[in-house]
Amino acid sequence: MTAHDNRVPVTAHDNRVPVTAHDNRVPVTAHDGRVPVTARDGRVPAAGGPGPAAGRAGRVDGADGAATLTGIGVGPGDPELLTLRAARLLAEADVVFVPVLDRLAAAGDAPPGRAEATVAAHVAPDRLRRLPFALDDRGGVTARRERAWDEAARTVADAVDAGARAVVFATIGDPNVYSTFGYLAHGVRALRPAVEVRTVPGITAMQDLAARSGVPLCEGREPLTLLPATAGLALFADALAGPGTVVAYKGWRRHAELVAELRRQGRLADAVLGRGLGLPGERIGPVTDPADDLPYLSTLLVPARRDRRGGKL
Ligand SMILES: C[S@@+](CC[C@H](N)C(=O)[O-])C[C@H]1O[C@@H](n2cnc3c(N)ncnc32)[C@H](O)[C@@H]1O
Repeated sequence: MTAHDNRVPVTAHDNRVPVTAHDNRVPVTAHDGRVPVTARDGRVPAAGGPGPAAGRAGRVDGADGAATLTGIGVGPGDPELLTLRAARLLAEADVVFVPVLDRLAAAGDAPPGRAEATVAAHVAPDRLRRLPFALDDRGGVTARRERAWDEAARTVADAVDAGARAVVFATIGDPNVYSTFGYLAHGVRALRPAVEVRTVPGITAMQDLAARSGVPLCEGREPLTLLPATAGLALFADALAGPGTVVAYKGWRRHAELVAELRRQGRLADAVLGRGLGLPGERIGPVTDPADDLPYLSTLLVPARRDRRGGKL
């Protein structure tokens, strides 16, 4: 339905200044190497300080020189969908950790994960470090998962003990939406309570799919339901029966069940599937084949039923 060449150019609030370079990298333009953060009123904050709305989250250092651990959302895949704050904090970090599948890391031949590939343009290789996680474990809180969380937290604590002050963990989408970051932060807080934990929001796959397919997520009094297909079909069916938009993550292995439910509730024709958003081979379009072999990075969007403009106001 849509392709890379249909992307809307990204422009600043006043619509004047394009913020992307030809090579898709967010340029670091200020004299001090910081990407200027522009306030909603169009003012650029004084050099050295965070924007009026930035608060402490806009700073790379913690209070009184405390170390910080910042979970940075890097968007679903397209490096253009990185916020200016994310780009700046990545550039300023002492060390940037990225998740990698533990099995592949152990074998020593892990290809870069999605977060790593997205931030590669912003981080020198000597500041980039991989943290193994049991990303494909489906058994709940398994020993393998706990071991990886604990080891990852210890690795971050070691980096802090070795002098790192600005520690970053890059994660796909948003760090507060189904992200490993919460489990890592839990472990680091337990080991080093003085470390200040923060997050920088990222664009979710849900938002990217809505933008790319031209579907408003919610209007008027409509609710919006984001759910993991792994939580079971009943949750999906209940949400579909409601008045709002439904977005299903993690549906790749349950696609046939989801499609059957869409058909049962007469919602199949409107549903949109986004595979590998922002990645090579990306596909966005209607749901056609229930037997589709989907990649893990697939998102299903079922728009609310809308019969006229503003009908839900
Ligand atoms: C563990 S969740 C991570 C969600 C992420 N933190 C966010 O804010 O979007 C993984 C699920 O997010 C969705 N997802 C993330 N990136 C995607 C992409 N590039 N294309 C399609 N779906 C994606 C998929 O449904 C995938 O199964």
